[in-house]
Amino acid sequence: MLNVRGVRGAPDILPRETSSWRRVEEAARGLCLRYGYHEIRTPIFERTELFVRGIGEGTDIVEKEMYTFTDQGQENLTLRPEGTAPVVRAYLEHHMAAQLPLVKVYYVGPMFRRERPQGGRYRQFHQLGVEAIGSGQPALDAEVLALLSGFLQEELRVPDLELRLNSIGDAVCRPRIKDRLLAYFSGHASRLCRDCQERLHRNPLRILDCKQDGCQRVVAEAPKPIESLCEACAAHFSEVRGLLDLLNIAYTIDDRLVRGLDYYTRTTFEVISPHLGAQNALAGGGRYDGLIEAMGGPPTPGIGFAVGLERVIASLPVSAEEDTALHGVYIATMGDEAHVTGMRLLQELRRQGVRGLIDLEARSLKGQLRQANKDRVRYCVIIGEEELARGQATLRDMEKAEQQAVPLDHVVARLLELEGSRGR
Ligand code: HAM
Repeated sequence: MLNVRGVRGAPDILPRETSSWRRVEEAARGLCLRYGYHEIRTPIFERTELFVRGIGEGTDIVEKEMYTFTDQGQENLTLRPEGTAPVVRAYLEHHMAAQLPLVKVYYVGPMFRRERPQGGRYRQFHQLGVEAIGSGQPALDAEVLALLSGFLQEELRVPDLELRLNSIGDAVCRPRIKDRLLAYFSGHASRLCRDCQERLHRNPLRILDCKQDGCQRVVAEAPKPIESLCEACAAHFSEVRGLLDLLNIAYTIDDRLVRGLDYYTRTTFEVISPHLGAQNALAGGGRYDGLIEAMGGPPTPGIGFAVGLERVIASLPVSAEEDTALHGVYIATMGDEAHVTGMRLLQELRRQGVRGLIDLEARSLKGQLRQANKDRVRYCVIIGEEELARGQATLRDMEKAEQQAVPLDHVVARLLELEGSRGR
């Protein structure tokens, strides 16, 4: 028996599940291309420093969730917990701004966080991420949100989603926002949980996000970041909202929404599903107008989001349009010589782009036909000893339940004709 099991929180995606995954990934790629986003593939691991500086030292991700190791050359490396910092690194390293002032990219792939596994929360999970770097225009916020909502609601038809929107200010007003929160929370420090007491001086904004009942009660009366925005941030936010209305994208304002990564400025958002239990965020993102500069580049605004694909797949409506069509050809044979002839035909069919299957377990003819049904092929080519002696095969249309004799050397051409006429 198996004595080495998979890692907890790192699930296998089995053959019966991969067609849903492919459908979601293909929808994502198609839509990103339509919006003018190009794919980028960064490595699965990076220097640890990238995430410490990018995501922020005091965040849960950096403090407790990174898979970090030292390799044989004494390099300190980390499996990527998210995709924004790597994209910004690649953007700067490859001088991407030199070719295009606004760089729009997307990525699909695994991320790693050592969180406590539970329904919808894994240690290896997959994100579709989108990043647009080089414009601070509210129109870009609106485009990114249109892409997100287009993907989840229009392409995938995930039901009952809520887009929650907030603005958490920028370098100008953030100090004031923090001061107000600090003053307020300091007055109620004894009612905060231990984590929040620690957050108080480091990052009081994060307290707004605490799920503990005691903290929630204190948070209910806390000053709202949105009410302390500077003029420029308030104007930006109001333009974003106006554009969302124009584009018919529904949202609710969530003035407590802060995100778990430090790089955010101005617009932040999450998409929530009521059907997912505790891990109800399908996607999250926002602006990061200070990140590129913090990583050593020139001051450059950016915005993006990431969608959790496991959560998306768990939310998909059971598809009524499952592919029930029959595809391809099964070659059923009796006897060694017929099998060899069958293999030759099969090779030719596959080379011509047709889905072709044959028995590899020396099953009886009956067993092979049963298998052909299970494999949902449209045609069966039956080659028995008698057929072989006559230089023929029986070609059966599994849908119409009709069959005909076809000379062996016409089988491939005949099938190509039939398959071609129905678009394979
Ligand atoms: P995030 O909110 O940390 O943002 O992750 C985005 C989404 O990834 C979450 O809403 C969730 O659906 C999924 N996710 C996160 N952690 C897990 C987990 N342990 N198991 C399953 N799914 C998970 C970011 O990662 C930012 N980089 C998004 C972004 C891009 N912001 C700007 N650009």
